[in-house]
Amino acid sequence: MDQIKSYIASHKDRFLNELIELLKIPSISADPAYSKDVLKTAEMVEQSLKDAGCDITEICETKGYPVVYGEKTVDSKLPTILVYGHYDVQPPDPMDLWTSPPFEPVVKTTELHPDGAIFARGACDDKGQMYMHVKAIEFMTKNDLLPCNVKIMIEGEEEVGSDSLADFLEDHKEKLANDIILISDTGMIANDVPSITTGLRGLSYVEVEVTGPNRDLHSGIYGGAVPNPINVLNKMIASLHDEDNRITVDRFYDKVEEVSAEERAEMAKAPFDLEDYKNALDIDDVYGEKGYSTSERYSIRPTLDVNGIWGGYTGEGAKTVIASKAYAKISMRLVPHQDPDEITELFIKHFEAIAPKGVKVKVTPHHGGLPYVTNMDSLGYKAAAKAYEKTFEKTPIPERTGGSIPIVALFEQVLNSKTILMGFGLDSDAIHSPNEHFGVWNYLKGIETIPYFYKYFTEMNS
Ligand code: BES
Ligand code: MN
Ligand code: MN
Repeated sequence: MDQIKSYIASHKDRFLNELIELLKIPSISADPAYSKDVLKTAEMVEQSLKDAGCDITEICETKGYPVVYGEKTVDSKLPTILVYGHYDVQPPDPMDLWTSPPFEPVVKTTELHPDGAIFARGACDDKGQMYMHVKAIEFMTKNDLLPCNVKIMIEGEEEVGSDSLADFLEDHKEKLANDIILISDTGMIANDVPSITTGLRGLSYVEVEVTGPNRDLHSGIYGGAVPNPINVLNKMIASLHDEDNRITVDRFYDKVEEVSAEERAEMAKAPFDLEDYKNALDIDDVYGEKGYSTSERYSIRPTLDVNGIWGGYTGEGAKTVIASKAYAKISMRLVPHQDPDEITELFIKHFEAIAPKGVKVKVTPHHGGLPYVTNMDSLGYKAAAKAYEKTFEKTPIPERTGGSIPIVALFEQVLNSKTILMGFGLDSDAIHSPNEHFGVWNYLKGIETIPYFYKYFTEMNS
């Protein structure tokens, strides 16, 4: 495996250019206007799997965007690693905040990426991280170093909730059978502080609509005498947290896993600098649930956040109007034992109950997903830790993240497989945000580390 360093040194320009070509295609799964681009990206990914030496590649139809699949079998007696990633990306807006266009990738240096970072939508989430696996597989097949079997599935609907994937897993259980799942779609603490993600939060996402009068009204003639749905919606939203910033939705915390004092003390050892955190975001203070530290608030505690709110007049100048309707999109991040469907039900009941007379409310559930945690005792974790030790010369820190990858819990339910989350992005890489980027160093470090996971996982399993 140690040839990986020299292989990267001789091919790194090509590795970078291939990724740049992939990043040029706007594979935005949320917007049907880009469906051709999403499909084109699937074809490019399939070609890349062929080039990387897969024996079988396929574009598998689903109800939605296809799953790109590839495999290379060395010996059926050897373990099988299933790699998962996604080729779809988030919409790039707001466009005017990008310093270079989102689908014209460029390499620029930043404070945290002195060797340069690729700026483009999807650079880190997840095209760049997914492509590390393709290049790692290429290295192993071309040098006859693949120590086990590999299957790889790259989907195109992750950013819109992976709606077609449950059926896909059910329909292809046999084909996807594996000994461990490997994903790079999370982050790590810092380039000199490697970490392995041991937990993901779940998600319940709803849209709410509040209707007042049957039409927009003059805010002078009617103002003060009728329910203004925007005022009402804001009051309702404000009431969803109490003075300790705990969520007030009835029975919301009933099943929340209480992490033991010992485990919290262990977690608190992970490096976290509150001043750096505030400075990076330009905030004077943090904000959150009483009784928990910042890193606990975004990892082991559930949340409720408004992601968007709209209604009434938002154009130029002033228009005096009371809108008929107001809307908001609300996400709830969930922790172990909370069930997304149950939480959505509780939210709907609560939201209907707190609506004042005079308005009608409608709650529409969007996607959801279960939380996931792994432990450090598994062979998979140990093999991953050893791989990081080899290439970073440091023991990685286990870390629960706040983000969600709903498919991970499904993998466990349907395929009965555990997942190892080897993420190489940084929180400051601005995923889902303008100026998303991925460090060139991180990209290459990922390609370097992944083959060692294959090696150690295979060794530990024989
Ligand atoms: N890759 C992210 C999830 C992530 C990022 C986890 C960083 C941990 C650290 C994934 O693409 C994502 O954005 N997931 C969505 C959920 C999905 C259902 C839309 C999320 O977390 O909001
Ligand atoms: Mn992702
Ligand atoms: Mn994402």
